[in-house]
Amino acid sequence: MTLQPPTYTPEARAQAEAELFELLQIPSVSADPAHQADMERAAEFLRAKLASLGFDARVDATAGHPLVYAEHLEAPGQPTVLIYGHYDVQPEAPLEKWQTPPFEPTVRDGRVYARGATDDKGQVYAHIRGVELLLSQGRLPLNVKFLLEGEEEVGSVNLEGYIRQHQDELKADAIIISDGSRFAQGVPTVTYGLRGISYVEVQVMGANRDLHSGSYGGAAPNPVGALATIIARLKDDQGRVTIPGFYDGVQEPTEHERGMWAELPHDDAAFAASIGATALPGEAGYSTLERLWARPTLDVNGIWGGYQGEGSKTVIASVAGAKISMRLVPGQDPERITRLITEYLPTLAPAGAQVEVRPLHGGQPVLIDLDNPYVQAAGRALEHVHGVSPKFTRGGGSIPIVAAFRELLHAPVVLLDFGLNEDAPHSPNESFALADYHNGVLTSATLLRDIALTAFAQAPGSGT
Ligand code: BES
Ligand code: MN
Ligand code: MN
Repeated sequence: MTLQPPTYTPEARAQAEAELFELLQIPSVSADPAHQADMERAAEFLRAKLASLGFDARVDATAGHPLVYAEHLEAPGQPTVLIYGHYDVQPEAPLEKWQTPPFEPTVRDGRVYARGATDDKGQVYAHIRGVELLLSQGRLPLNVKFLLEGEEEVGSVNLEGYIRQHQDELKADAIIISDGSRFAQGVPTVTYGLRGISYVEVQVMGANRDLHSGSYGGAAPNPVGALATIIARLKDDQGRVTIPGFYDGVQEPTEHERGMWAELPHDDAAFAASIGATALPGEAGYSTLERLWARPTLDVNGIWGGYQGEGSKTVIASVAGAKISMRLVPGQDPERITRLITEYLPTLAPAGAQVEVRPLHGGQPVLIDLDNPYVQAAGRALEHVHGVSPKFTRGGGSIPIVAAFRELLHAPVVLLDFGLNEDAPHSPNESFALADYHNGVLTSATLLRDIALTAFAQAPGSGT
């Protein structure tokens, strides 16, 4: 088979931008029920686009938000790849911190600013336009399936069931996901590890009503103070999580990995400066990259209770609460960790504070075999597009469904990240560099072409 390397014309680039901006205008915020119709609109937009490329494309309802499934299976005997991504986005709040409105995509300094620009609409659309680029040069030389969900940012609650139900339909030789951040500007990256997650909400109750802090203060329990005590006891002065058994089974990175990481262009001072922090108070005894990629951690994501309005109010609240997430690494199981923290939190409470813990969601950590031929092909595609050799790194974030993909579809997963942490996913003023977007389009087309041209050992279940 001969296949020209993709040429990406200025017209195609302009069209790729215009279409992405249209998608970015749809406020598909999965966490907010008020956006139900927008979720359907975004799903339909993607379905129609994939149908226009000749895909058999449909929107499937779930118990939550719909997902888009599309397939283009006109290359018999050739490999099949499944491209997964999500069209839902994080809530835009705090709105006042956006320089331009979150759902009015605006280009400044070569970046498009909008909620979802990098996470994950821009990266998803890079693959759609990558496929289109290949199609513009002839027949698609391999089989491609897209699975685009609308609930990633709320824990992918219905996706595992969907994959189970559609196990045969979703069968693929490799699963490609672009939903994270590459290592740094100028460093094309294949990601081979992600942290898992365990997320709980805790409520602390004191008296049966809010109390006058003069009439009752000093005698009555104070849930806000109790919650602060509980949280303070969750880490010791070395930055280690105090939950008994938390570190049991935690796998250390290999010597080979430590060697690779040591060669990465990382600088603690620059890293701290990039987020405006005066110090990096992580777990003692580990480097920043180890803390981010190979060590589990615990963070309070939100806390509430008591009076928050103007001026002062002398009151003792009856209830306080917090959201707590733990990032997990290989060797840890989210269900076990959720059980451990659920048992542990009440033991930290001062007298009179009643603690209730509610699990929200969890996800397994992942580690991907670097020898996998599809991972290597992704590296070659990046090298071809960027002209420099790629790095293989882990990431600190979580994509809980990856473990289910591997388990249920028995196919290797390739994490090919086009974005950067500086794109500010989940933050105000999220953006995506247009150069990164177009490089993503080219990388996708190059990788798919490489997969079509390369003979792969296709033993079922051959490594992940
Ligand atoms: N795209 C991210 C995951 C990610 C971020 C991977 C950075 C690698 C680097 C994804 O959309 C996300 O935000 N995931 C959540 C998962 C959670 C809702 C279960 C996360 O990591 O917080
Ligand atoms: Mn994402
Ligand atoms: Mn996200």
